[in-house]
Amino acid sequence: MTLNKCRLRVRQRIKSKSEQNTGSEIRGASEGNANGFMRHMPPNQKKTGRTTAAPLEVILAGSSSKAASPTILVDEGVYRAYFERSMDAMLLMASGGRILAVNSAACELFGRTEMEIAQASCRGLLGGSSVSLKKLLAKHARSRNVRGELEFLRGDGSQFPGEIIAVHCQGASNEALSVVVIREITDRRRAEKEAAKAVKQWECAMQGTLLAISNMVEHSDPYTAGHQRRVGIIAADIARELGWPNCRCNELRNVGLVHDIGKMAIPTDLLVKATPLTIQEIEIIKTHALKGYEILKDVAFPYPIAEIVYQHHERIDGSGYPRGLKGDEILPEARILAVADSLEAMATDRPYRASLGLEMALNEIERGRGTAYDPDPVDACLRLFRENGYKMPD
Ligand SMILES: [Fe+2]
Repeated sequence: MTLNKCRLRVRQRIKSKSEQNTGSEIRGASEGNANGFMRHMPPNQKKTGRTTAAPLEVILAGSSSKAASPTILVDEGVYRAYFERSMDAMLLMASGGRILAVNSAACELFGRTEMEIAQASCRGLLGGSSVSLKKLLAKHARSRNVRGELEFLRGDGSQFPGEIIAVHCQGASNEALSVVVIREITDRRRAEKEAAKAVKQWECAMQGTLLAISNMVEHSDPYTAGHQRRVGIIAADIARELGWPNCRCNELRNVGLVHDIGKMAIPTDLLVKATPLTIQEIEIIKTHALKGYEILKDVAFPYPIAEIVYQHHERIDGSGYPRGLKGDEILPEARILAVADSLEAMATDRPYRASLGLEMALNEIERGRGTAYDPDPVDACLRLFRENGYKMPD
């Protein structure tokens, strides 16, 4: 039989059945089947005989039934089969938390019978979750869908993490219902933990590598011993003061560790020269920003470390080097690093001069606010030292 012929027959049956039922009251309350579902067709549907989008009132089996109308089963059967045969555990819940229907996958997942699940109600299915399923559904009652993760309790007392996806709908009498799909996520949680552990190990390895590079640089330039590490710490703390997320602050700390890596390509004689540098020598030292970029550019870091190193001597008014970038052309990380680098350099001894002292160094940074340096990191830096009691890292 073709689908159209089948539909025609169904319509004819619907018409005949709806004529018989006109004026009758809801009859579904005593109708059911062996699968735990009972149903009725609401009066307005009976009048029209429409079967599409027929609202279902589904309650737990408990009373015997006569055969349900085949005209209704045509449409309801699809939804019912989906519910019953779904590989995902599914529950039908009333707004008060009462469980109205359970599929076989739910029985398998919870290790309980249909009746045991119904009697447990939603509270009895939960393990050590802080949020109850009922509260979760109530909180999102106005949303069409609810997603969440909860701890559930099996019949044998063991717990398992589950993801829920709930869809709110209305029953035949306009009562609020929720169809709740529950998927066990034990394997996913384990995989997430392993992935997080692997990321942590990778981050530690990367930081160790950067630290090793930093130590190498400082071997060739003993006067900058600790400079890169301190610059990284100050830059990260300025970023934190600016409200950057922790992971980005940590990235900046790592960039600080190697920001002068290009000095490895500069003759040590120049780096440790105690007398004033000539203009030519200064130009040679200035190449360390580009050299640093060239050393790092082919390493696939998760953030643009080579570019930040390249830009750490740029100034927002375009007076910096090597490219004379201005304002937003300079990465925010490089703008913070510029403040931290300058401050640390001025506040500590250099081969060719003694430290200016912290207060004078801070005054110099303040003097460059809005011209050499981005005002935001300058303000954050001054707040840290002058208002928050921040100390120069050792
Ligand atoms: Fe530098």
